[in-house]
Amino acid sequence: MNHDKMMNAIHEIFDPALPRLAPGDDAVTRHALDLLFNGGLGRLSSDFRVLDVGCGNGSQTLCLARELGCRVTALDNHQPYLDELQRRAQAEELSHLIQPLCADMNTLGDGEGEYDLVWAEGSAFVMGISQALRAWRTQLVPGGALGFTDLVWLQDEAPAACRDFFAGICPDMPHANAVKQTVADCGYELVDTFTLPGHAWWKNFYMHLKERLVGFQPAEDCEESRAILEMAHGEIENYRKHSDWFGYVFYLMRRAD
Ligand SMILES: C[S@@+](CC[C@H](N)C(=O)[O-])C[C@H]1O[C@@H](n2cnc3c(N)ncnc32)[C@H](O)[C@@H]1O
Repeated sequence: MNHDKMMNAIHEIFDPALPRLAPGDDAVTRHALDLLFNGGLGRLSSDFRVLDVGCGNGSQTLCLARELGCRVTALDNHQPYLDELQRRAQAEELSHLIQPLCADMNTLGDGEGEYDLVWAEGSAFVMGISQALRAWRTQLVPGGALGFTDLVWLQDEAPAACRDFFAGICPDMPHANAVKQTVADCGYELVDTFTLPGHAWWKNFYMHLKERLVGFQPAEDCEESRAILEMAHGEIENYRKHSDWFGYVFYLMRRAD
């Protein structure tokens, strides 16, 4: 299949106007911040810097800016998502805190340790968790913090239909506990983890995606757009039937020095 056509099909279905592009919601982001800072957000310095990687249309970016009141660099490689984020930031009068950056996370390179917090909801899979954690460590100041969510197995021995679905789209999906070891191996101290609740999948994500898929006609009827459409339907159905077996887990950690 053609990669560009595939990306076009993904961007067409996952429209910037959707509330968000992965499971999550403000309550989840706030809970993660609370666990990471142990309720101590009031003590953040005024030059605290955040990097939100794979920010999409910025649901969590806005939450970070609102909660932390500090500058957030919002990185994504799809400009229409960043445009939508800017529109939302303007509407909330948060634009002065948000710096959009259209870039490929794979080309970030070694950082100079300038961020106090790196955030990545639903985007570590792009690089692979281990590679992402090692790269993002170089972006952090010593003792800096990192929070990310990713799709993991919650239990072994999932039903065959569920395993078959992920074998097609996510063959290396790790077990939730294995990621804890990866966190340590990549030079972090794990602070906490939690599994996102079901409503964080449905309310702001799948309900809206489901609505968008009703009668959806891709601009170009090609093999790629048909495959992505089938995957989107399949994803929702797989979650509806098998959500006990897999989930999104929030991993919260500090750079170990
Ligand atoms: C599943 S979405 C999550 C978006 C957002 N964090 C959320 O939770 O709604 C993954 C995001 O990563 C972005 N992305 C994919 N590949 C990327 C890359 N190579 N560099 C930067 N961003 C990328 C996509 O454009 C998309 O916005």
